[in-house]
Amino acid sequence: MDYKQLIAQNIKIEGFEAEDVYSFIEVPPTKEVGDYALPCFKFSRALRKAPPMIAKDLAESFPKVEGISSVEAVGGYLNFKLDRSGFIGGVLQRVLGEGELYGSSKIGEGKTVCLDYSSVNIAKPFHIGHLSTTVIGAALYRIYKFLGYNTVGINHLGDYGTQFGKLIYAFKTWGDRAVVDQKGLEELTRLYVLYHEVAEKTPEIDDIARSYFKKIEDGDKECVELFEYFKAITLKEIDKIYKLLDVQFDSYAGESFYNDKMQPVVDELKEKGLLVESQGAQVVDLEEYGMPPCIILRSDGASLYATRDMAAAYYRKNTYNFDKCLYVVAYQQNLHFQQIFKVLELLGKPWAKDMVHVAYGMVSLESGSMSTRKGKVVLLEDVLSRCIQKALDIIEEKNPNLENKHETAKQVGVGAAVFGMLYNNKIKDVVFSYDKVLNFDGETAPYCQYTVARCNSVIARARDINAAYDLSRIDVNEQEFAVCSLLQTFPDVVLSAAEKYEPCYITRFAVDLAKAFNKFYFDCKIITDDDNLTAYRVAITKCARQALKTALKLIGVGTPEKM
Ligand code: ARG
Repeated sequence: MDYKQLIAQNIKIEGFEAEDVYSFIEVPPTKEVGDYALPCFKFSRALRKAPPMIAKDLAESFPKVEGISSVEAVGGYLNFKLDRSGFIGGVLQRVLGEGELYGSSKIGEGKTVCLDYSSVNIAKPFHIGHLSTTVIGAALYRIYKFLGYNTVGINHLGDYGTQFGKLIYAFKTWGDRAVVDQKGLEELTRLYVLYHEVAEKTPEIDDIARSYFKKIEDGDKECVELFEYFKAITLKEIDKIYKLLDVQFDSYAGESFYNDKMQPVVDELKEKGLLVESQGAQVVDLEEYGMPPCIILRSDGASLYATRDMAAAYYRKNTYNFDKCLYVVAYQQNLHFQQIFKVLELLGKPWAKDMVHVAYGMVSLESGSMSTRKGKVVLLEDVLSRCIQKALDIIEEKNPNLENKHETAKQVGVGAAVFGMLYNNKIKDVVFSYDKVLNFDGETAPYCQYTVARCNSVIARARDINAAYDLSRIDVNEQEFAVCSLLQTFPDVVLSAAEKYEPCYITRFAVDLAKAFNKFYFDCKIITDDDNLTAYRVAITKCARQALKTALKLIGVGTPEKM
């Protein structure tokens, strides 16, 4: 039972739908005021009445509703108190009944969402900055799926550009296949850095590199083979990280995939009179919209990042017929996406409005927390290994006899990093701190995971108790009510996370629920001499565990059985 809905359905105000009323309902700062409140100033203009008057009228006309014990007008607010026992009974029944599906919905049925995330660059190191796009995108992917949407995860690989010509030059001149096979990306990076050192003194090699890149485009066998080889080396290495993070993609169509798909876009731009020449280049003028021109073709006729994104947008619309297409990309690319979306709009594509740039902030490491292996780049693999190692150290110290120590350390270490990245609103810049994300008493993955393990052990101890309980014989308390109130909000939390593209709503929910459960756990004895009370409290424990596990799963954090 959704109490907000119950309230909204019973409020009749001219000019407002139940949905509007629903969205106005708030949770008051203290429970003494009430469990829910409706601020009436939202209606005062439409009704031409003072909010306290509206509240008074609404209180008088509110019908007797099961589950709501009192309705009171206080100032401009209409405050509701719930029949707590009825409320708790309803919530527990729903969570237990729906199990893993609790919080899910069918609102997305028949709709498709494309998500472009991670989108790594071939032959470049995978560094900590890539963690955000990967985990935010993967979380949104799971959240939309949970809401019934058809989801398409796309890794728009950065696999196009003159840097591949440079890499071919470096590889042919100084490289050794056996070494690249063995050292992978690290060796490719070394060759690339070496290339730039040499090119500084002998810029002529840039011409050779450019000719190699041209050869890739023209399908030259050797160059294409080398390019594919670099790609395979990169993907193999990145795949290890995706496995650790449990992240998947439905498509790896990268930039080069659009090599033969840009012409129709260019033609259409021309036909619609949108292309103008500027210093030899073909551009779409966006001055009227306060933006620099969007360059479509360089003066030498070469395409650009934007051209390939235009072709990708067409391709995605034609292939998946999306209802929404999300780009989980750092805010540094705000302008790029504004330009692309504007050009699509100018082309008269009605679906331009369905394109969303899901921007996020920068990640930096707490200074001194890690020596970088190569220059300035902090490799993601190193960050994750270090989290796992630290988790293992903590386990060795706190619970050395734990079975499955290594598997658990992996779930805790990786979970801590993921959770840390998804804790704040995504647009905020974050400073990554190992100690902070791994603090077992903080607002962290380990804290939530530990709470799930605690639930597991309570439930295991209560194995022999009959699960049925009779709430009419129980005087429900604050702690129990607090846990159930949170549980009741979960479906709404999932919906808002999708609507606002903010996985952090779910992360926060997990922390709040874990806190409320732990308060309940410490204040109230769960396994008591009274079987009825025990069964009831074990049911609360089962429901808290279920919602916590689901929330963590949605954001990409695993839950070890024991910790
Ligand atoms: N590879 C790009 C980068 O690392 C991100 C690509 C984002 N996706 C897109 N369709 N432009 O900056």
